[in-house]
Amino acid sequence: MTHKTSVFNRTAIFHFCWLPFTVRLFYSAALIVLGLGYVFALLQIQIVHAGQDGKPGLSIDDLIIAYKGSSDKTHLETKLYGSMAGMLPEAEREKIIGWIRDGASREAYEEIVAPITQQYCQGCHNGATPGLPDLMGYDKISAHVQTNSGMSLATLIRVSHIHMFGILFLFFVMGIIFFHAYVKPLWLKALILVTPFAAVILDIFSWYLTKVHSGFAWVIVISGVFMALSFAAMWFISFYQMWFYKPSEELIKNNGAAL
Ligand code: HEC
Repeated sequence: MTHKTSVFNRTAIFHFCWLPFTVRLFYSAALIVLGLGYVFALLQIQIVHAGQDGKPGLSIDDLIIAYKGSSDKTHLETKLYGSMAGMLPEAEREKIIGWIRDGASREAYEEIVAPITQQYCQGCHNGATPGLPDLMGYDKISAHVQTNSGMSLATLIRVSHIHMFGILFLFFVMGIIFFHAYVKPLWLKALILVTPFAAVILDIFSWYLTKVHSGFAWVIVISGVFMALSFAAMWFISFYQMWFYKPSEELIKNNGAAL
């Protein structure tokens, strides 16, 4: 033990209490932005995925629909129940759903669907907004009336690399701050630090695996929970120890070495 302690002293990462005020202020500001960013990320998940199975709120079925798709609902239906649900009154939505169920014919489109989309969808899906599909006209909207096969491989790959780099960056910054915390036992600190990286790998691989087997949607949820737990632990421990913590005997004895 004595041998180990001396090694720590030589390679010390000092506890927050030993850091200058400006550094603690800088770290705290970063933590606040990271925390808010996390809240927005959770809201984003809610907005994109919730309700697609026809029931309000986020469920495992919503994730399965997002990644694997749905054999009984078309893409347009899942959107009308999901992120587009707020765009039109329920009665109008049911008319479009009825049209889809009745075979989505061109005649019925002109009579039932065209007036609704003109009123409620045209503002955004008129072909003028980059990134938003043009839904005006029978041919355009019909393209979305097919069985939903979930996120395409191309989209998954694009989102995977953005997600991996984003999460790496987020938890790297978070980890560098959390290094300065005093957490015992040491293996717990190490676990909190590496869990998010393991979780992001598990999370992203499960997106692809959910296409093969719906059960992997649970792995997406579980890895998300572990990521959130590590995030919360690092955030609260760091913030608390930065401003409200009185150094323990051991810390003082180690000259502030936090590891
Ligand atoms: C206020 C702007 C707005 C209005 C109005 C709107 N949408 Fe959207 N729509 C969006 C945005 C933004 C997206 C992309 C984000 C998403 O998928 O949730 C989107 C995505 C979609 C998608 C998925 C497109 C894709 O390529 O995956 C469909 C289908 C859709 N909307 C249908 C509709 C229908 C039908 C209406 C009318 C009832 C409607 N939208 C009204 C903004 C709008």
